[in-house]
Amino acid sequence: MALHRLTTITLGVPDVASAAAFYREFGLDERAPGTFATSTGGEQLRLLPATRRGLVELGIGADDRDDLVRIARALAKLGVEASADGTALQAVEPVTGLAVTVTVTPRAIAPAADRAPCNAPGRTERANRPAEGVLRDGPVRPIKLSHVAIASADHEATIRFFTDGMGFAVSDRPAFGAFMRCSEDHHNLAVQMGPGTFLHHTAWEDDDVDEVGRGGAAMVAADPSRHLWGLGRHAIGSNFFWYLCDPAGNFAEYVSDLDRITDAGAYEPPMWAGPQMVRAWAPPMPPEFLAPRDLGEVIGELLS
Ligand SMILES: [Fe+2]
Repeated sequence: MALHRLTTITLGVPDVASAAAFYREFGLDERAPGTFATSTGGEQLRLLPATRRGLVELGIGADDRDDLVRIARALAKLGVEASADGTALQAVEPVTGLAVTVTVTPRAIAPAADRAPCNAPGRTERANRPAEGVLRDGPVRPIKLSHVAIASADHEATIRFFTDGMGFAVSDRPAFGAFMRCSEDHHNLAVQMGPGTFLHHTAWEDDDVDEVGRGGAAMVAADPSRHLWGLGRHAIGSNFFWYLCDPAGNFAEYVSDLDRITDAGAYEPPMWAGPQMVRAWAPPMPPEFLAPRDLGEVIGELLS
């Protein structure tokens, strides 16, 4: 059948306790020490102690064991060994050292979020009452792991591993990399050209832009040094974003309204150009978004 979602990620961090406090406050549910769930995706983040920050493992969900057989054959053609049993396949992406596990697992169906009524010129959806977004006062709870973005010392080879090997589909292919999907989400994995290999960010989906704004604002109010970039809207993928920085230096993004691709033949991305490749609108992009401050320390294989 097919791949259908990201299941889990494992992050290596030098100080698990401080990173765990960050992700609790970010809105993830700590089910066991260092293991976090989203509201509809199950346990999707694990923190492990490591000498330096990085992405240790990426988990992908597949429909059935035929997918594992297909992936093992495709990886073999690329010269990559995989180990597999009836329920899981494991392989290591050779350039980045990233461990990838594909597991036969049920699809996760997110319940439909209510659409907040929204007024516009000539259209009154909400009369005689304030907007729902201004009345919310509960903590923001990301619904699922949306995507992961990494830089690779040989991004073309890493992209081939995920497309020709794993079976990801390419949604957008700007000069600096590829935005790929293993579900209907516009991207579940972005691989970009880099001065070396490093984890750029993880991204977590919220119901709507109010949740992105409320989540980012609350995190920054508690500690302004966490702020990286936002609130803004990307052009590629269309999503609203607010990026924060965890205590280890990993970027964590709140996301809403990401494009969905339900018919690959019908999706024709524009020819993105200039700064629009990165943003449709946003405050000025901080230089550390492209070159994290700790780049010299973390560059190398993703596996810490
Ligand atoms: Fe992102």
